[in-house]
Amino acid sequence: MTVVFVSATGTEVGKTFVSRGLIRALKGRGRTVEVLKPVQSGYDPREAEGSDAGLLIAATGAEVTPERIADVAPWRFEAPLSPHLAARREGRSIDGDAVIAMCRERIAKRKDALVIEGVGGIMAPLDETRTVLDLMVALGVPVVLVAGSYLGTISHTLTALDVLARRGLTVGTVVVSQTPGSSIPLDETVSSLKAFAKGVPVLVLPRLPPESSPDHAVFAELVAKL
Ligand SMILES: Nc1ncnc2c1ncn2[C@@H]1O[C@H](COP(=O)(O)OP(=O)(O)O)[C@@H](O)[C@H]1O
Ligand SMILES: [Mg+2]
Repeated sequence: MTVVFVSATGTEVGKTFVSRGLIRALKGRGRTVEVLKPVQSGYDPREAEGSDAGLLIAATGAEVTPERIADVAPWRFEAPLSPHLAARREGRSIDGDAVIAMCRERIAKRKDALVIEGVGGIMAPLDETRTVLDLMVALGVPVVLVAGSYLGTISHTLTALDVLARRGLTVGTVVVSQTPGSSIPLDETVSSLKAFAKGVPVLVLPRLPPESSPDHAVFAELVAKL
């Protein structure tokens, strides 16, 4: 009964894209997949279908309804800021303990597979004192780390891996999602990452055509490694 937390070295790197591909690949294997985007900032209710929660729900094959959005992403904020700042803009605050409790409950009650998409990068602030990393530690589930292929990604990715290991988290796989317009040779970046990543599997997801569905052999490989 798979549970995976999809995190990233930063924001806009490809968490939602990779999560959707993973969900589709799991479903292709006949698995029942539930999804969770515990905290979502930058959420515009008028564009619910294109929101992270909406895209994750659609990837499971379910219809995107306001009820499902509320269920999958209970903490939603309009400002495209880190969660604690987005909450502040609305005069609200996030109770990290409540987020952890909700995630634990969903993990315990899952029917089969559960894909949780994180918020921002691994240390994006969640509430006033905790980061997403603290949430991942509290849940203790395996992490898929999404990275880019831009100049600098090797350091960002190795830093993330080091922190995750120090906090006792298992990184099942790193997925390098090709950064658009990057002039850095992808294969050299990946081989360097593999050399330093000390046995953590590194998969490569090329840049797929814009608006395409995340469908690629790499997602089957990712499922096989879960
Ligand atoms: N490998 C890829 N091929 C094509 N588009 C991608 C790929 N990775 C990410 N994207 C696109 O890049 C944008 C940012 O990715 P997204 O998954 O939303 O990042 P995150 O969830 O980490 O913020 C989205 O428009 C997404 O569809
Ligand atoms: Mg996302």
